[in-house]
Amino acid sequence: EQIEKGGYEHFMLKEIYEQPHAIKDTYRGRLLAKDGIVRMAGVENHKEKFLNANRIIIVACGTSWHAGLVAEYIFEDLARIPVEVEYASEFRYRNPVISDKDVVIAISQSGETADTLAAIKLAKEHGAFVFGVCNVVGSSIARETDAGAYTHAGPEIGVASTKAFTTQITVLTLIALKLAKEKGAISNSDFHYHLEQLELIPDKVARALESDKHIKAVAETYKDASNCLYLGRGYNFPVALEGALKLKEISYIHAEGYPAAEMKHGPIALIDEQMPVFVIATKKGHYEKVVSNIQEIKSRKGKIIAIVTEGDVDVKKLADHTIEVPETLESLSPLLTTIPLQLLSYHIAVMLNKNVDQPRNLAKSVTVE
Ligand code: G6P
Repeated sequence: EQIEKGGYEHFMLKEIYEQPHAIKDTYRGRLLAKDGIVRMAGVENHKEKFLNANRIIIVACGTSWHAGLVAEYIFEDLARIPVEVEYASEFRYRNPVISDKDVVIAISQSGETADTLAAIKLAKEHGAFVFGVCNVVGSSIARETDAGAYTHAGPEIGVASTKAFTTQITVLTLIALKLAKEKGAISNSDFHYHLEQLELIPDKVARALESDKHIKAVAETYKDASNCLYLGRGYNFPVALEGALKLKEISYIHAEGYPAAEMKHGPIALIDEQMPVFVIATKKGHYEKVVSNIQEIKSRKGKIIAIVTEGDVDVKKLADHTIEVPETLESLSPLLTTIPLQLLSYHIAVMLNKNVDQPRNLAKSVTVE
């Protein structure tokens, strides 16, 4: 096992650090930035299904569901296709309105999650075209779907999902860009720019990982908190949910993710000097609005830990701690803002002596209902 961990103390840490490589493996052969081409056979062979779809319904569970939420922003923003994101466990029992005009995308790292598999079967019964985004090759979901795209992230052993999440977002971004181009929903120059920026992401993830020491110090400061709040807007709202989930899963600290502007409808009541609030406040992503959310937290004496864009000035003046990530397009920012939140949860769990790779009560894949 020590050999498999490749010198890292835990699988989770190894997998966090594998992300630059894993994302590259995900887009290798698919993203041809110089030629301005996205090559995805699974989408190409069923282009008409996607282009004529009334809407895309995404079904998933856990972290994969969060990747689906990010995809909702990407598909609607870039490809102008309406998207609904569903918990597979709810969808399967809801008597959903679904027809052969719908495309269902099922996202699953393991490809074995029982609820997701059941949702796929239901969608197929109603005549929908089902596309899978899986990591495990030959898995049940990969076999059950009409077509698909693998994430090629390599084996993920840690129960808390990390590289599966970022590689799922990478695949979904490629699909959205391909459809945007086919539909003429994106200009040529925008399309090319997105491809170039996506190609730069692995190096930027590597740069984000360089803040590890600083993140560890932040973890030390907040490891004894009993509640934490995670806030983000737009593309980074799902990242807030994912950040909170990571902390819950492995450190057993109660954490909630919220859209930053919804804070005033409830969670703001919880804020006092005991409450760490992790805010994703990168440039472009509704920056000014998030800054004003941060002011609201500050005036209630909450502790602010902000994920900011390199070189940020405004948030630094307000926050107790800032963690920088490189600048990128807003649509690609979840691939970077997620990284410090993964490391933070990891370090807190290690400091609290928790079983990072196999947290209590959780399973890597949930094959029963
Ligand atoms: C379990 C795992 C999570 C995962 C979820 C969905 O709860 O602990 O990490 O996100 O299942 O799994 P899937 O394999 O379908 O992505």
